[in-house]
Amino acid sequence: MSENAKVNVKGNDYDFPLLEGTEQEVAIAIKKLRGSTSGVITLDPGFKNTGSCKSEITFLNGEEGVLRYRGYDIEELANKANFLEVAYLVIFGELPTKAELVKFEKEVNDKSFVNEEMKKIVDGFPRSAHPMGILSSMTSALTAFYPTPLDISSDEAIYKAVVRSLGKFPVLGAWAMRKRNGWPLGYTDSKMNYIENLLKLLFERPSETFEPNQKVVRALNKLLILHIDHEQNCSTSTVRLIGSSHAGLHASISGGVSALWGPLHGGANQAVLEMLEAIQKDGGDVEKYIAKAKDKNDPFRLMGFGHRVYKNFDPRARIIKSSADEVLAELGVDDPLLDIAMKLEKAALNDEYFKARKLYPNVDFYSGIIYRAMGIPVEMFTVMFAIGRLPGWIAQWVEMRKNNEPIGRPRQLYVGKTQRDFVSIEKR
Ligand code: CMC
Repeated sequence: MSENAKVNVKGNDYDFPLLEGTEQEVAIAIKKLRGSTSGVITLDPGFKNTGSCKSEITFLNGEEGVLRYRGYDIEELANKANFLEVAYLVIFGELPTKAELVKFEKEVNDKSFVNEEMKKIVDGFPRSAHPMGILSSMTSALTAFYPTPLDISSDEAIYKAVVRSLGKFPVLGAWAMRKRNGWPLGYTDSKMNYIENLLKLLFERPSETFEPNQKVVRALNKLLILHIDHEQNCSTSTVRLIGSSHAGLHASISGGVSALWGPLHGGANQAVLEMLEAIQKDGGDVEKYIAKAKDKNDPFRLMGFGHRVYKNFDPRARIIKSSADEVLAELGVDDPLLDIAMKLEKAALNDEYFKARKLYPNVDFYSGIIYRAMGIPVEMFTVMFAIGRLPGWIAQWVEMRKNNEPIGRPRQLYVGKTQRDFVSIEKR
């Protein structure tokens, strides 16, 4: 693209290049803004208009509800591929061959062993600890067991770090839940695939041989694929920002887990379920909660509704909604919360407040209902999201380091006191 963006600052004209992405998105490259204008910056709280990087991983068009990983449509991947196959695609850029996938699956499983010393750390948490707090801490603790910095110029070193992370992370996530339940901390089985092992890690009892329910495996595979990446969201930006200081992969992912935990981000899946339960306990009056969400004096928001970038339907929510119907029918679960969710969705979609603000159900609106039907406790919902999002965090971290991106360090507009003289304590 040859055109420039023209900006006039205090009477002076400046030209900034326009960049165009492969999907015809346009960006004004303002790298030289501050230098050429003697100190003028842009101000964009929440980065609503600011691109932080160029990326080849995920394409998202929020207006049209499009989501693709490495060019492949999310719906096709969710219906036709397995989780590690899509993880491989997202991290390494291409779908694996059969041989590559078999090797990858085996190596991920081989690396799922976690140093037994880590169990002592888990043991130190109170039983009441939230699993996301445990997962973030345990991920960070991995840095103590694998202290060697990752050599980003070595594809072999990256591959090893990838299989190690993918192998150990679900073990740590499951341990966080088992600690809460007082259950023994277990490991994977080399005969099972990634999703089967995740269920085994969560639900296996010492006295029984664990047999994964294939309906649950299929549904979870689909659900986690939908969570793998979502370009520069809050947790992914956190992972990239931490990594931009050349902090290690696990230290960065630990920060991503913390960012995801918040109820405005991944923590919304837990918040949605709790909201639906509260509505049910309160007599099921959906309209009352719609009114609360619209009331600007009430902090209540309709959890699972709205999205920073989707101003049309969240494509993941559409797939998850039909999946929720299927899973509940297949498992023979009749969940009254699903009825409340459907009533709430209908009421919101027909309400002027929600229509005017383009607020639609997001990925978290129905996922909790599926997790609940699978027997996953509500505090674990965001851990499930994190396990799904891990390949995306890794892919984005590796891309950031390989592109040799500079350390992330935003500017600010200072609006505090101007210089003043110190007043001694006696005179204050
Ligand atoms: N309920 C009621 N009003 C809402 C909601 C909601 N869920 N979401 C946005 N609004 C209103 C908001 O009050 C504002 O109204 P006004 O223009 O009158 O001030 C307008 O819609 C725009 O909202 P915003 O907060 O400026 O939008 P944002 O892009 O900063 O926030 C969001 C996006 C996802 C944080 C927000 O929609 C929200 O809090 N949703 C509920 C939490 C949730 O479901 N989060 C999961 C997001 S998807 C998964 C993920 O990212 O992890």
